[in-house]
Amino acid sequence: MKRLSVLKKTDSALAISEVWEQPLRVISVTSGKGGVGKSNIVVNLGLALVRQGHKVLLIDADLGLANLDILLGLTPRYTISDLLALRKSIPDILVEGPGGLKILPASSGIPELADLDEYQKMFLLNELDNFSESLNIVLIDTGAGISKNVLFFNIAALERIVVANNEPTSITDAYALIKVLVTKYGETRFKLLVNGLSQPHQGEMVYRTMLKVMERFLGREISLDYLGMIPFDEAIPKAVLKQEPVVSLYPGAKVSRCFTELAKRIWESPPTSEMGSNVKFFWRRLLAYQF
Ligand SMILES: Nc1ncnc2c1ncn2[C@@H]1O[C@H](COP(=O)(O)OP(=O)(O)OP(=O)(O)O)[C@@H](O)[C@H]1O
Ligand SMILES: [Mg+2]
Repeated sequence: MKRLSVLKKTDSALAISEVWEQPLRVISVTSGKGGVGKSNIVVNLGLALVRQGHKVLLIDADLGLANLDILLGLTPRYTISDLLALRKSIPDILVEGPGGLKILPASSGIPELADLDEYQKMFLLNELDNFSESLNIVLIDTGAGISKNVLFFNIAALERIVVANNEPTSITDAYALIKVLVTKYGETRFKLLVNGLSQPHQGEMVYRTMLKVMERFLGREISLDYLGMIPFDEAIPKAVLKQEPVVSLYPGAKVSRCFTELAKRIWESPPTSEMGSNVKFFWRRLLAYQF
């Protein structure tokens, strides 16, 4: 991370203050169990971050079952499958969402993409690297489970937000995903976001349960930070039906304010920094692991 000296205007004088230039944040939003709210979280968190002045790219990494474009009411002309088929480049397939939010759309119903081969993975990371300089934050919607693609995108990211609710299946599957990322790929740091419950203490219960299981079976060196809870809110399914993010359609809804707060908290939390912002991000990750 680079330290910059900047001139800041105070009430009556100009003062020099130091700020930290943030490196590119690449964050996966992932889950063991499907349907826990990842895609809605990515869209609304992405938009909240854009509104706070960040340059954000959303990657729809649920490659065979695209969702982000649908949630945003967009109709992309090209998708990641055109990129992988060498027909198009990233700027060709990018679609622009509200406020300048950028989306890399996936395609629907192409089973071959559900399991990328090694060449496709390398190619995709290289293309993303060439494009990443104009961005502050990349959010990756990984799809659910422990498939090769889900694991690959979680490893390609530097920060992982695991989404769960209080259903035992959601907690067990979240743990299963974390376990594979720890034992097979040596990941050590995770964040938990609980979605779709009504009381904050329910979110804390999910966190405590996950932490206990992780400490017992994976040891205390593996960290799980609690990012909080997005409440259950009927405004979300209503917004989904209208194909608009809830933060745009119902900005005053409690859930929209939660996304705004979450965006601030994520940006202000220290990134898991292993490198300066000028280092090719995805290549570093690629070289660090064997997929
Ligand atoms: N906080 C919430 N309150 C109410 N409904 C919600 C909330 N979050 C998500 N939902 C609803 O849950 C459903 C699943 O959400 P979403 O598609 O975002 O999940 P997902 O984890 O991306 O699913 P998949 O694993 O299939 O990709 C949607 O119908 C959405 O309307
Ligand atoms: Mg989804």
